Amino acid sequence: MSYPYQITSLAQYHVDYRKSIEDPEGFWAAVADNFLWRKKWNRVLDWNFSEPKVEWFAGAKLNITENCIDRHLATMADKPAIIWEPNNPEERVRTVTYARLHKRVCQFAQVLKNNGVKKGDRVCIYMGMVPELAYAVLGCARIGAIHSVIFGGFSAQSIADRLEDANVEFIVTCDGAYRGGKDIPLKSIIDDALIGNKTVKRVIVYTRTRTPVSMIKGRDVWWEDEMDIAEEQVEKNGSISFPAEEMDAEDPLFILYTSGSTGKPKGVVHSSAGYMVWTNYTFVNVFQYKPGDVFFCTADIGWITGHSYIVYGPLSAGATSLMFEGIPTWPDAGRFWDIVDKHKVNTLYTAPTAIRSLMSYGLDPLKGKDLSSLTVLGTVGEPINEEAWHWYDENIGKQKCPIVDTWWQTETGGIMMSNIAGITPSKPGWATLPLPGVQPVLLDEKGNIIEGSDFAAECLKASPPVGGGGLEGAGNLCIKAPWPAIIRTTWGDHERCRTNYFATYPNLYFTGDGALKDAAGNYRITGRVDDVLNVSGHRIGTAEVENAINIHAGVVESAVVGYPHEVKGQGIYAYVIYNGHHGDEDMRRQDILQTVTRVIGAIARPDKIQFVTGLPKTRSGKIMRRILRKIAEGEMQNLGDTSTLLDPGVVEEIKQGKL
Ligand code: PRX
Repeated sequence: MSYPYQITSLAQYHVDYRKSIEDPEGFWAAVADNFLWRKKWNRVLDWNFSEPKVEWFAGAKLNITENCIDRHLATMADKPAIIWEPNNPEERVRTVTYARLHKRVCQFAQVLKNNGVKKGDRVCIYMGMVPELAYAVLGCARIGAIHSVIFGGFSAQSIADRLEDANVEFIVTCDGAYRGGKDIPLKSIIDDALIGNKTVKRVIVYTRTRTPVSMIKGRDVWWEDEMDIAEEQVEKNGSISFPAEEMDAEDPLFILYTSGSTGKPKGVVHSSAGYMVWTNYTFVNVFQYKPGDVFFCTADIGWITGHSYIVYGPLSAGATSLMFEGIPTWPDAGRFWDIVDKHKVNTLYTAPTAIRSLMSYGLDPLKGKDLSSLTVLGTVGEPINEEAWHWYDENIGKQKCPIVDTWWQTETGGIMMSNIAGITPSKPGWATLPLPGVQPVLLDEKGNIIEGSDFAAECLKASPPVGGGGLEGAGNLCIKAPWPAIIRTTWGDHERCRTNYFATYPNLYFTGDGALKDAAGNYRITGRVDDVLNVSGHRIGTAEVENAINIHAGVVESAVVGYPHEVKGQGIYAYVIYNGHHGDEDMRRQDILQTVTRVIGAIARPDKIQFVTGLPKTRSGKIMRRILRKIAEGEMQNLGDTSTLLDPGVVEEIKQGKL
């Protein structure tokens, strides 16, 4: 497979960027021509940000799985689509060719059909990182069901909320999942989530860990049994087929829940055609993928990175995607390097938090590992500090591999800003330039565009040099026009989508991130400007954590802020007013942690809990988080104006008790 839309030089980047801004419809139509359509579009783009309404390739008909699988069969049937590396290095690797993937996805689509799933139905997928998770995702897409994958670290309560929000009738899960030395009882968590649930009709259970599970008659069925039945149905005269459902370009492909500044996660909805084009285009370009390369994205499919760069981007490009079940530090901190060596990985795409964690083990885990197959390294999910960047560059890339720092979000569907490997220059800690189709703009709090920040307009004037220069501006990062994979709505509540992303600044998509821009047009993401934390590259809303803490019987009130954490990027700091008499402080802390684990999941457990008698509030009752944030960061002096506080004395007490 070749990619006529692959950018191959710096000059071409500038030309393509300019074209994408001057004539977005012409530009994206030319890219989209390289995909498989049942019917071409009537119109490339129709949009306004006031509703918001965004339609890409309206009128087109397609099925994304025909693009990810069927179209590769003629030339690449025996090529590995997925290489699966199990948690336990002693266990057998599984290599799934495109032909095998086709068979399994057809079979699973048939299973879904046999179990009553129809186009447009929501299917919740709660599985570990096994190839069957990819089959489940693609099986849904094949019959036009909307998948909602939930990361295995979320609790029963979180799952229950998501099931209710999307009115889910079908679940696909595993008995359990292996993660490092742990065995997570997924089915049992699903059973808890289903207590009181009235909508779920069927739970399909794949056997992975052989953990004992309860199977409810009439509701729960085994994956293996269902697949056996389906095998006969999809096999006719020695060939396999399950006709893919014809989807409209704008039919929803999936829902993925993510945290915002309110207490309730939002179901971000992505469409079929635009998402496909964008994930493929960004995959092929940013990583400069070459047919035959082995691409290793270490994310979990429970997050957007796994959706876009383990499943849809790589497979639609006919790539070989390496899927890893385990964690970077088990059985030891050399696990990634063993995998790179064993599978001759060409591209490694991981998170700064993983790099920082591995750095802390020193260079011993690298001894004897051949990393010479690597050609491109990538990072995602949070700002990368320079120390980690250089460690990655020197010890993993041996200063020969470009590092792409990819900035994007669940809502953007795919990479928005990044250097292009080996084509546009990197700058440690900077996401650098926008990809074609992306028009960033920086604004101050009042909504004024910060002078000179409009790289798109500049680019139209002249191709600017990249790679250096002074600081040009800092502000809130917005995007001026739609790219193909922009969020379409938040499930069940379009108004929420509008107020969250399109109302802060009229006619702009607001990212929630702050950014700096240098004179050459490079961007550096400085982090969230809203009440969203980024813990180990995972988004967690402070309000969500506060809600969970407040559920604990002894808690009167709480305030949660982030603070710099050496490995996680940000840690969670909770200030808690406690009114119970049960146990000592340590016990109470443990109980609160347990409550958060129950309500959200272990990923949201605060790193520090400080008990206080009051919180710094204004006379109108608003908590002054700025002060709490500074104290959590260890900044005791310049706390700013505290004169408007109801009780300024409380600040002194909080300072004294800082952990
Ligand atoms: O703050 C930005 C940060 O992660 C947020 C998006 O989180 P999520 O939707 O979970 O998606 C993560 C994977 C795409 C952003 O608002 N972020 C993501 N990538 C970077 C980043 N911050 C700095 N540099 C990045 N490369």
